[in-house]
Amino acid sequence: MFTPTPLLPLILLGLTPLTSGAPTTASSSDDCDLSPRAATYWQPKPNSTLRWDYSLAQGPTTGFKASDGSSSSTVDVWGLDLFDTSKETIAALQKQGKKVVCYFSAGSYEEWRSDASSFPKSTLGNNLSGWAGERWLDVRASSVRSIMTKRIALAASKGCNAVDPDNVDGYNNKPGFPLTQTDAVNYVTFLADQAHAKGLASGLKNGAEIVSRVVGKVDYAVNEQCVEYGECASWQPFIKAGKPVFHVEYPKGDDVNNNKAVSAATKKKVCQNAGAKGFNTIIKNMNLDGWIQFC
Ligand SMILES: *[C@@H]1O[C@H](CO)[C@@H](O)[C@H](O)[C@H]1NC(C)=O
Ligand SMILES: *[C@@H]1O[C@H](CO)[C@@H](O)[C@H](O)[C@H]1NC(C)=O
Repeated sequence: MFTPTPLLPLILLGLTPLTSGAPTTASSSDDCDLSPRAATYWQPKPNSTLRWDYSLAQGPTTGFKASDGSSSSTVDVWGLDLFDTSKETIAALQKQGKKVVCYFSAGSYEEWRSDASSFPKSTLGNNLSGWAGERWLDVRASSVRSIMTKRIALAASKGCNAVDPDNVDGYNNKPGFPLTQTDAVNYVTFLADQAHAKGLASGLKNGAEIVSRVVGKVDYAVNEQCVEYGECASWQPFIKAGKPVFHVEYPKGDDVNNNKAVSAATKKKVCQNAGAKGFNTIIKNMNLDGWIQFC
């Protein structure tokens, strides 16, 4: 990772977008061009007072009041669905000083997406268990990668600050293809390079096993349920590298989606996990609707 020293004070401001040196890639057609290729993208820092929300199912829930009395207007970083969120919504949030992280599934086919018909049959693997209408993708395929490049271009055209490519950990599942951790590292790196080239930050979603191999390439992490699975410490390399871990737990379980606050004991267990020190932790319903409890 290249961090330009003169910009460090700006980096410490956290939410300030800044100019950073892009990794230099040799251009085959013009390898005499020595001018630095500056890329501008958001480089968030760990910040315990920063609030994020992962509202993929409901969008930015204006007027929502969390059980601690805080409201959706206090959210600094919104994780929103790339396809379902309009350019206008994103612009309106940014006008209020918020950042928008646009979610899409990079490692699964979702039959309802507008570009679903562009995936060749040969790239579609097993169903995702528990997620109707989704199938694992062969992320090694160039056809899949060019579709994801288009999705990242869509994110750029909508003005997203970052992308949140999901389901990169096929190796942990039964995708129907012999996907390895190295395939995942390669894919996450590809997605980050594409995002950076378009002026967007990119993250690692889940995939604890590859943290050390991609922490230098992505700008933040999104983790689901590391408290539940006892693997929060695996994500500490992000904090050490000065990159935030946006962490969500679903202590009510898979099926209990209601607006009730969790007990004080549950909240303590989720919010005071030793391994999750420095993370931005939130409590949500697993369907990622508008309900939230902040730590
Ligand atoms: C941390 O986030 C809060 C909320 O957005 C912001 O007011 C504050 O300036 C941030 N601190 C740093 C050091 O970036
Ligand atoms: C996969 O899911 C589809 C519906 O999305 C279903 O029709 C099909 O039977 C499932 N296949 C297997 C092997 O479970």
